[in-house]
Amino acid sequence: MQTIFSGIQPSGTITLGNYIGAMKQFTELQEEYNCYFCIVDQHAITVPQDRLELRKNIKSLAALYIASGIDPDKVTLFIQSEVPAHAQAGWMMQCVAYIGELERMTQFKDKSTGKEAVSAGLLTYPPLMAADILLYGTDLVPVGEDQKQHLELTRDLAERFNKKYNDIFTIPEVRIAKVGARVMSLQDPLKKMSKSDPNNKAFISMLDDPKQIEKKIKSAVTDSEGIVKYDKENKPGISNLLSIYSILSGKSVEDIEKEYEGKGYGDFKADLAKVVIDVIEPIQKKYFELIDSPELDAILDQGAEKANRVAGKMIKKMENAMGLGRKRK
Ligand code: TYM
Repeated sequence: MQTIFSGIQPSGTITLGNYIGAMKQFTELQEEYNCYFCIVDQHAITVPQDRLELRKNIKSLAALYIASGIDPDKVTLFIQSEVPAHAQAGWMMQCVAYIGELERMTQFKDKSTGKEAVSAGLLTYPPLMAADILLYGTDLVPVGEDQKQHLELTRDLAERFNKKYNDIFTIPEVRIAKVGARVMSLQDPLKKMSKSDPNNKAFISMLDDPKQIEKKIKSAVTDSEGIVKYDKENKPGISNLLSIYSILSGKSVEDIEKEYEGKGYGDFKADLAKVVIDVIEPIQKKYFELIDSPELDAILDQGAEKANRVAGKMIKKMENAMGLGRKRK
């Protein structure tokens, strides 16, 4: 059985973009792969976090994974900081990475440009992400489009390590969904939907209530043409909404276009809100049952135990390959 690894940052409540680009894929893949899904809290502290908020968001993300359909009996679900091998391997991968290639990462440039105090962690984030993936002999990494560059770097670092030290890493492939890999902001359809967007109307959070969802979709930026048609270049707003509708309803974009021929954006948006609410409501119901349950802690304990066992073996191989410490079996 092939292995999958993927992670989500607990930096705020995840958005519909995270759900469509990542989590929805995870639930489909868990049947066929040996999956590791991680709450990457060490990645989250590359930018300032409130201590109590972070703690809350970690548990909340864990509950959302399960509420969205992740089956803890099938996958290993765990918190990154509870598996010290990630930080250990992250350091080793930092020593394999070059500053120049890290400075070229789009996400680093986006998050650091114009900022005064940029943490060193923001720069050295991709080697930690590479470590996350490589520790488990991962074959496949399902992510949204924005993580593609980090995955390419992960492959480069793994190949470099294999050549320089010892051939121990599997070179992972990236898996990006054909539709929905880049859900756009509702307020600026040229920007990706992001949980850190200062404009709350730009994203739908997985914990928004139906009224908020209706309002946000109603005020989503479209165009003045009033024709429900997919045209990413000239009609990015309505095209984004059409993609969301298509993925969540399972209908093709062409069928939806036909359904709304002669109707305006008002009808379309009202129906889209229903489609989104129909997906999110059952997830929320499960979420509220889980969030304060002892069951959730038990799942995370079990996940950390398995991840520690598997990742610990790779740490030994990495240290032996690099000549760290004394030779270990
Ligand atoms: P993060 O936490 O920003 O996002 C989690 C996942 O959601 C996807 N995503 C989107 N997909 C579609 N449309 C959007 N608007 C959208 N926004 C986010 C992301 O592509 C991602 O798959 N560096 C990663 C976390 C990470 C990781 C890993 C991922 C750490 N280690 C190892 C895979 C493997 C991140 O910041 O994702």
